[in-house]
Amino acid sequence: MAGQFTEESLLSLAEQFSFRSRMDRSAVGGPILVWGRGSVVRDVNGKEYLDFNSGQMCAALGHNHPRIVQALQESCDTLLHSHMSLFNDREIILATRLAEITPPGLTKSMFLTSGSDSNEAALTIAKRYTGGYEVASPVVSFHGQSEAARALTFSGWRQGYGPYAPGNYPILAPYRYRCTFCRDKCACDYTCLDTSFDLLDAQSDGRMAAVITEPLFSAGGVVDLPPGWLRELQDRCHQRGMLLILDEAQTGLAKLGTMWGGEQEGVVPDILTISKHFGGGIAVSATVTTPEIEERVAGTGMVVAHSHSNDPVTCNAAIASLDIILEEGLVDVAAGIGGYWARHLRSLADRHELIGDIRGRGLLQGIELVTDRETREPAFERGREVGRLCLENGLILSVRRNGSVLRFVPPFTTTREQMDLAADILDYAISAACT
Ligand SMILES: Cc1ncc(COP(=O)(O)O)c(C=O)c1O
Repeated sequence: MAGQFTEESLLSLAEQFSFRSRMDRSAVGGPILVWGRGSVVRDVNGKEYLDFNSGQMCAALGHNHPRIVQALQESCDTLLHSHMSLFNDREIILATRLAEITPPGLTKSMFLTSGSDSNEAALTIAKRYTGGYEVASPVVSFHGQSEAARALTFSGWRQGYGPYAPGNYPILAPYRYRCTFCRDKCACDYTCLDTSFDLLDAQSDGRMAAVITEPLFSAGGVVDLPPGWLRELQDRCHQRGMLLILDEAQTGLAKLGTMWGGEQEGVVPDILTISKHFGGGIAVSATVTTPEIEERVAGTGMVVAHSHSNDPVTCNAAIASLDIILEEGLVDVAAGIGGYWARHLRSLADRHELIGDIRGRGLLQGIELVTDRETREPAFERGREVGRLCLENGLILSVRRNGSVLRFVPPFTTTREQMDLAADILDYAISAACT
């Protein structure tokens, strides 16, 4: 099918018929992708790219993983879609399997389509459970672009979409590299949390429901949490009767070298949301909570249901993805890939002054680019140029924070040779952007 079209003809059709609403790109342009396997994608001209963005992070198991393809084929032979109000076998099996690996006590799941959906559902549950409506999230957060999720996305993509519902508040983020409270101290002393909760307490009308956060802020610039911060946040939430929602879209299911990002901080949230590679490239997400919370909100007659909730085909893909994660030992694979890639980043930082900071772990790492390591002035333009040169030379990555952060999310299938090649491309791109 793709063979019938040239890049030029496809771009001309896109100019005429495609709605331009993409992230990071407002113009129509190449490459146009047509094929993918493992960590490699190919464009319509036959050129290959290392995909260090894992598609939109959803193909982290590798593009077109054969076991996902097989699960889809099985569903074609049985049942693709079913009645929203009736149970189907796939969703029950998936909920049972997921409960074996979720953090302790989180055993009740519903299955939706996108990361935004899963967060909308989590917020609805928290509001219904607490009787409150006020919700907060850190200023570098990204939780999606549906209404309630965008209202709690403070890292960008926000202006011009309002007005937002009352009761959505930002709190400060523990962005140590740029934190005015602790960037020069040896550790975060949680002044950001004390200040944030002073402000929340002052402006609240007394009906606080939840804080939602990522355990490592991805879209906001690959910002790690300082040790203890998440636990301190949870304590402050619980003192006020608020729930803690952990959005593990980008950090869960083995990506950081543990099954869950929150696990590394010893924190079990009240509600967990899961999406991205959960379906191995197929759109499925989950909202998971405790039996106690589920009992209370379900007892109030709460409905969160969409046409494609709990679809057998997407749930079967997610079952296959859990099989892959467990049977292929992906927790250890992520730790191995992460360690090897981090060594490449450290060696690049030794050679290039442009790299001011290296952050993240496992399959979610980033570098912050600065024009001067002392002043930490962000290198926006150079960063965008490095991203452009990488793409031109066959490495797909994500450019965040207006150009000053480059994010790398290689799939679990990525080999050492592929990482060596990616590091060479990055090395060349940084050198070229700096001359
Ligand atoms: C942490 C996080 N939460 C939620 C979302 C939204 O997911 P979706 O785009 O599937 O709605 C994203 C998307 O990038 C994300 O990174």
